[in-house]
Amino acid sequence: MDPIVADWISLALRWAHVMVGIMWIGTSFHFIWLDASLRREQGMGEGLAGASWMVHGGGFYRATKYLVAPPEMPADLHWFKYEAYFTWITGFLLLAVIYYLGANDLLIDPRVMALTPAMAIGISVGSLVVGWIIYDLLCRSPIGDRTALLAFLVFLLACVAAYGFTHVFSGRAAFVHIGAFLGTIMAANVFLVIIPNQKKAVAALIAGKSPDPKLGKRGKQRSLHNNYLTLPVVLMMISNHYPMMFEHAQSWLIAVGILLFSGLVRLYANLRNAGASGSPVTAILFYAAMVGMGAIAYASYRPGADLDAVGPVTFAEVQAIMAHRCLSCHSATPTDAAYRVPPKGIAFDTPDQIQRLAPQIERMVVLTNAMPIGNKTGMLPEERLMIAKWLAESRTSVE
Ligand code: HEC
Repeated sequence: MDPIVADWISLALRWAHVMVGIMWIGTSFHFIWLDASLRREQGMGEGLAGASWMVHGGGFYRATKYLVAPPEMPADLHWFKYEAYFTWITGFLLLAVIYYLGANDLLIDPRVMALTPAMAIGISVGSLVVGWIIYDLLCRSPIGDRTALLAFLVFLLACVAAYGFTHVFSGRAAFVHIGAFLGTIMAANVFLVIIPNQKKAVAALIAGKSPDPKLGKRGKQRSLHNNYLTLPVVLMMISNHYPMMFEHAQSWLIAVGILLFSGLVRLYANLRNAGASGSPVTAILFYAAMVGMGAIAYASYRPGADLDAVGPVTFAEVQAIMAHRCLSCHSATPTDAAYRVPPKGIAFDTPDQIQRLAPQIERMVVLTNAMPIGNKTGMLPEERLMIAKWLAESRTSVE
């Protein structure tokens, strides 16, 4: 496909994906909050859990929650499900347009594993399906009744996925796949468990029978998992601009740190919403901060290169390295068939452009190995050291 056409499609899909994703997470967060804000009012009937008063957009609203269901089904019942379905559909199409069509550059990194595009795409699709099946079997097994053990095993599954993806795909594709893996579980929870169970409950009520309480319990469990998965999934989806996370020899450990950190933050928020307070609750924030700082420190630590061993580097040498390793893509007229315009508008055609983009070059070439993408142009470690030396020298000469 023409790269510019692919970009337009990807822009349209990304816009749609972010919009429906906001709607999904927005309704989900609103209902979590609504549940927590319910208060019993005087004279309230037995079948009601409570009510919540809200003011928004110039109007007052009062929502009441029924413990099981209203005595009669309302004629007009609003469901919230299409947000989830469309988030998954647009997300999967986006994954396909960016990572499947651009598999050679973005999905595969021969330094991690030499795959053909067909193999890589097969692993990608297969992992999403298999991930859901394992997760669903876990929830349906007797372990499903043991909330804490189940939560631990779901966390373990996410860690295994993180380990697996980072050992198969390029760093950035791996992180996006961790997000897609968990996001698929979330959307499938809505599509295959939460909504069908709710439909069965409604059908039972219409038939004048009382619905099986297991239906609601199972739906609630999946909903709670989705609640915990939202934060890490969103972070993984925006991670591709931050190579300091995914361009790391053990980037899966950083992903595990993110899962733990966001899990603790969510636990804290849920406990506070439910009215809990006190030092054990506050301590959770402390643990979250420890995990967060640990992950940042681990991601930031890079053994310093010995630049003294590198001789003086001239700008002409830097320019030659850039021309050799970067210009095939980052030029006003790229020669790499996958690009018709320089990626991200970044071009290194002139000395001025190289000087001006020095901090970006340092980030992508010295502090991480994010560029050349997938090391497509075969940049050598010595060349990275020379760029590092040049950057260090130009810094001291400015001072
Ligand atoms: C095979 C093509 C290719 C080569 C070669 C290449 N890049 Fe890139 N570069 C890309 C792509 C694609 C992106 C956009 C990635 C994205 O969408 O986040 C990019 C983005 C960048 C960015 C911007 C990153 C950001 O997130 O803002 C910088 C800086 C960069 N490259 C520097 C370099 C340097 C320096 C070299 C040479 C050492 C190089 N690139 C070689 C394809 C390439």
